[in-house]
Amino acid sequence: MQGERSYLLGYSEAEIRRLLCQAEMLRPITERLLKRAGLCEGMRVLDMGCGMGDVTLLAAAIVGPTGFVVGVDRSGETIGLARQRASERKVGNAGFEVAALPDMEGLKDFDAVIGRYVLVHQPDPVAFLRDILKCVKPGGLIVCHEAYPRFPICSSPPLQIWQDVGEFLRKAAAHLPGVDACEDIQQTFEQSGLRKREIYYEIPVIQHPQSELIEWVASSARTFAPLAEANGVEGAAVLDLPTFEQRSRDAMRKAGSHLTAWLQVCAWAII
Ligand SMILES: C[S@@+](CC[C@H](N)C(=O)[O-])C[C@H]1O[C@@H](n2cnc3c(N)ncnc32)[C@H](O)[C@@H]1O
Repeated sequence: MQGERSYLLGYSEAEIRRLLCQAEMLRPITERLLKRAGLCEGMRVLDMGCGMGDVTLLAAAIVGPTGFVVGVDRSGETIGLARQRASERKVGNAGFEVAALPDMEGLKDFDAVIGRYVLVHQPDPVAFLRDILKCVKPGGLIVCHEAYPRFPICSSPPLQIWQDVGEFLRKAAAHLPGVDACEDIQQTFEQSGLRKREIYYEIPVIQHPQSELIEWVASSARTFAPLAEANGVEGAAVLDLPTFEQRSRDAMRKAGSHLTAWLQVCAWAII
């Protein structure tokens, strides 16, 4: 059963902080994607692999009080945090459930199913999508925001420290189970029977040394270090992770470089 595999990056406090930081960075990209795909007022939406609920809350704001969003995650810990955040913000049109997708007793007839950084964690993303699509009404939407982690992070003028971290993350992320499916989202959608689709990319640009995006990259390098080590990927020692963030900022300031982070895969289809 697919949903039974665990989330390789874990649920430590540091990972939860990294996901919150990441969510802040990705929010405008996800929001543009959801709106462009046609998410709108009154829709009933499923957010697959909702984590701490950032995408769920974003979608809840788009569908408004006449719509509703259900965030589902296999981790009870993150669902607890998502519920707490929704309640603190007094969001009345979002609910959360613990489930290992695609097993989802009673979840059906959605107008849209959405997800960010979830396919990359599935051992068989095509089978996962085919099963998930069963809970969407005909004519409904599927919207996926994924990363293309093997696309190189670039700096201009080039910085060695940035080339090193880009290379390290590229090699480590190659061990995520669904990475190929995200990098060839066209094929993944095709094989899942999703023909009426649109696919485009966005790239976050880190323009100044104070950017919070640098914290995102630094915390990602720390998160991926155990996965890298388990798979014999070298490079963590060269990066000197405890000092990486500050040295990156200093190098960027000195060289006047700007950086491009991972390619963001934006894909949606009508079912
Ligand atoms: C990288 S996090 C992304 C969280 C959230 N979508 C966001 O962008 O903020 C991936 C999340 O998907 C969840 N997940 C992965 N596969 C899942 C599955 N088959 N069923 C339920 N949750 C899953 C993990 O537990 C984790 O919380």
